Amino acid sequence: MTEKKLQFGIIGFGFMGQTHAKMITEDLDYADVVAVCDINKMQLEHADASYKTYLTADELLKEEAIDTVIIAVPNHLHLEMVEKTARAGKDIICEKPAGMNAQEVEKMLEVTKEAGVRFTFHHQRRWDTDYNVAKKVYESGELGNIYTIKSSLYGFNGNMHDWHVYPEFGGGMLYDWGVHLIDQILNMVPVKLKQIYAHVENVINENVDDYFNLQFYFENGVNAQIELGTYFLSDKESWFEHNWFLAGNKGTAYSDGFFPQGKIVTTSELLTNVPGKITMTHAGPTRSFGPAPEGRIITKELPSVDVNHGMFFENYYQNFLGQEELVIKPEQILRLMRVVDAIRLSAKTHKSVDFE
Ligand SMILES: NC(=O)c1ccc[n+]([C@@H]2O[C@H](COP(=O)([O-])OP(=O)(O)OC[C@H]3O[C@@H](n4cnc5c(N)ncnc54)[C@H](O)[C@@H]3O)[C@@H](O)[C@H]2O)c1
Repeated sequence: MTEKKLQFGIIGFGFMGQTHAKMITEDLDYADVVAVCDINKMQLEHADASYKTYLTADELLKEEAIDTVIIAVPNHLHLEMVEKTARAGKDIICEKPAGMNAQEVEKMLEVTKEAGVRFTFHHQRRWDTDYNVAKKVYESGELGNIYTIKSSLYGFNGNMHDWHVYPEFGGGMLYDWGVHLIDQILNMVPVKLKQIYAHVENVINENVDDYFNLQFYFENGVNAQIELGTYFLSDKESWFEHNWFLAGNKGTAYSDGFFPQGKIVTTSELLTNVPGKITMTHAGPTRSFGPAPEGRIITKELPSVDVNHGMFFENYYQNFLGQEELVIKPEQILRLMRVVDAIRLSAKTHKSVDFE
């Protein structure tokens, strides 16, 4: 159907490299995989017979047919691979987290600009359904002046594995899920981020973080909290749960799950003068908040959104054709990595960090 197709090479053919290859080959009629490489020969056995296979990035980068390289190696190697690929004159999609720190990402921006190649990061969770529902509620104004947002991701009964438990390879949850959740909040609240306070823990992993609670104070008065833990013990079937909570002076919204269940709750009139109610408890009478008068509490369905992760590649392709701007801009991701650096500083000093 398309006259000009994307021709991909993939560096690192592990979980994510193979996921990309399968999706490109099976679902994208505007793209092909030309070649893949991995230092581990066994990974190459998972390659489709139509792909060329190599053991090193240097060999793959000599393939003239490749126009875009996906970098899907462990995090500590992202900078090295971005530098090599840019020097080879190929466009780049680098996996998240961009790098180990903001300084590495600054270097990436420098080399890719110098080489004049297209450059973006695979932050496909900008197209998550639950995130886009929460963002639509935030932008709708229905909740009035929003003062708090909570994004929480709880992992159950498991732990990280492989290189993710080693700090020198870029392990830990801040690099893993953290950058996705932070990126979503930064994109939802597009104003200056004034202050960051972070509590980061190693609950069962001696060397890398597996719990964090981040507080972001934005210039417009929004206080956003992101809480993530990988080691909550649970009798639930699911192994991960992502929930949202947003509150403003005119309403509250909650959304549970990646394909969210939730509601928007508003009121026809501010509930400023509801008489208290005396309730008898075990310990004697207590006065609780009063029940809202009949008909004042209005419950609405969450808005619907039509998004999927394929939209990341669709946008990349449209940019390749000169039709659209890249949605995931390297400068945004540099800011995100500066936030991650500030989080580490706050966690180390137990003090809030002034950011912008
Ligand atoms: N966007 C997302 O949702 C998402 C999800 C999972 C992983 N990732 C990212 O993808 C990257 C890879 O993660 P993964 O889970 O696929 O890890 P993985 O361990 O499954 O795969 C990494 C592969 O890179 C190979 N490799 C290591 N050094 C290499 C080198 N010098 N040259 C070529 N290959 C080399 C390894 O042998 C391995 O097969 C990470 O940056 C991770 O954060 C992103």
